[in-house]
Amino acid sequence: MWGGRFDKPPADVARAYTRSFPVDRRMYREDIVASRAHAAMLGQQEIIPAGSAKALTAALDSLLAELDQIGGPPADADDEDVHSYVERVLTERIGDHGRRLHVARSRNDQVATDFRLYCKGFCLRLAIAVLDLLGVLVQRAQEEAETIAPGFTHLQVAQPVTLGHYFLALFEMHRRDVDNILYAHTVADVCPLGAGALAGVSFDIDRESVAEALCFSQVARNSLDAVSDRDFVSAVLQACATLGGHLSRWAEDLVIWASPGYGMVRFDDAFATGSSMLPQKLNPDVAELTRAKAGAVAGAAAGWQATLKGVPMTYALDMQEDKRAVFRVEDDVLAALQALTGALSTLAVNRKRMATVASLGHPTAIEIADYLTEQGVPFRDAHAAVGRLVRVAEDRGIELADLDDAAFAAADTRLSADVRDRLDLQRAVARRTSLGGTAPARVREEAGRANRWLHWQREHVQNLVARGLPAALQPAAPAQADV
Ligand code: ARG
Repeated sequence: MWGGRFDKPPADVARAYTRSFPVDRRMYREDIVASRAHAAMLGQQEIIPAGSAKALTAALDSLLAELDQIGGPPADADDEDVHSYVERVLTERIGDHGRRLHVARSRNDQVATDFRLYCKGFCLRLAIAVLDLLGVLVQRAQEEAETIAPGFTHLQVAQPVTLGHYFLALFEMHRRDVDNILYAHTVADVCPLGAGALAGVSFDIDRESVAEALCFSQVARNSLDAVSDRDFVSAVLQACATLGGHLSRWAEDLVIWASPGYGMVRFDDAFATGSSMLPQKLNPDVAELTRAKAGAVAGAAAGWQATLKGVPMTYALDMQEDKRAVFRVEDDVLAALQALTGALSTLAVNRKRMATVASLGHPTAIEIADYLTEQGVPFRDAHAAVGRLVRVAEDRGIELADLDDAAFAAADTRLSADVRDRLDLQRAVARRTSLGGTAPARVREEAGRANRWLHWQREHVQNLVARGLPAALQPAAPAQADV
C-alpha cells in the first residue's frame, strides 16, 4: 500500500508490532459503509469515472454481505489493518476500479470516520442495554415499594428505608448513565471524512453529502482537528467508567446482602455459582466479576486519557490504541449489564430477614427526637435526650420501645408513652413523605414517573437508531429463534 519509497519490507517484529488488523477487523462494517459513501461521492463529483464508482459500490455491497455471512474478515488475513484489507480485496475483485478508491482520502480521516461510526453504534447498543436494566429496576421498585430494608451509612444500619426506594436510587444513577452515553454519542456524531491526511484535499469533494449518507449530523470544520482528536473516545470511555462504577456499587451491596450474616437476598441458581469443594456454597460470582470489571473499565478510561495527552497534533499511531480500549470496554460493560440485569430480575428477597436487619441498632431513635421537636424542644436538646435513652436501652440490652415509662420521663418530661408507636419501622418509613423520601406512597409515585421517563427515553433512542445510523449499521433485529 505504501511501499513505493522503501528499499526493503518492514522487519517481521516491526510489522507485527504496528499492524492493527487483529483488533480493527471488528469494525469492517463501518469501514465498508464509509468507503461506499466515499466512492459514491467520488463518482458524483466526477473525481473517478462513473463506471468505477458503480463497480466500487457494488463490490463493497457484496463484500459486506459476504463478510456478514462468515462473521467478519478472516482472522488470519495478513493485512496491516482493516482499511488495507478492504482495499486489497476490492482490488483483487475489480482490479483498477479498486485502485481508484483512495483518492481524496487518507487512512487518517478514514479511521476517524469508521471509529466515530462504530462508537455511535456502541453508544446506542449500550443505551438500549441500560434501558433494559432500568425497566427491571422500576418493576422491582414497584414490587418492593413497601418492603422494609436497612438503610446504611458507613455500612451501619442508619434508618429503615423501603427496598423500592433503594431500587429507585439505582434507577436515578443509571438514568444519568443514559444521559452520559447519549452525550458521548453527540460528541462522536461529527464526520471527519474529507480531512485527508491532515490538510484537506485538492479535489472538489462534497463532504456534506458523505456526512449525510453516513447519518452524521455535522461535518468536522477543521481538518487538523478532524484527524487528531479522539475526545469522543474519551467521552465514550468516561461514560462507561461511570456506568461501571454504578454497577459495581450495587453489585457490592448484593454481595454483602447475600452473605449469611445479612441473608437478605439470595441469587437465583441460574445466576450463582458453586464451589468445587464445598457442596453448600452458592457464590455471587456475577456480582463479584462486575465489581472487578468496573475497575478495569475505569483503568481503560484513565489509560486512554494518558495515551492521548502527549500526542502532538495531529495524527500519530498512538491513536490506533483507541480501538483496543473501546472494544475491551464494550465487551466488559455489555456483558456486565446483561448478567447483572438477569441477576436482579431473578433475585429473591427475604423480606422478613431484611426487616430484622433493618431493626438492628435503634434505627428509629430519630423518631423520638422528632417527636420532642414537635413539642417545641430545640432539636439539639432532643438529640441529647434521645442519646441518653439509647444509652439506657443498650445498658439494659433492650429495644427503645421496651423501655418503661419512667425511663422515657427521665430522659425528658415531655415524652409520653405514645411515642413508642413511632418506633415501628413501617410507621417510620410511612412518615417520610418529603419529596424524594422513602415512604411507600412516594416510591409508587416516583416509580410512575420513572416509567414515563423510560417510555420517552426508549422512543428517543429508537429514533436515534433509525436516523443516526446508516441502515447497514443498525443493530440487527433479534433472529426469530432468539425471541
Ligand atoms: N490503523 C490506523 C489506526 O487505527 C490507521 C492507519 C493510519 N496509519 C498511518 N500510519 N497513518 O489509527
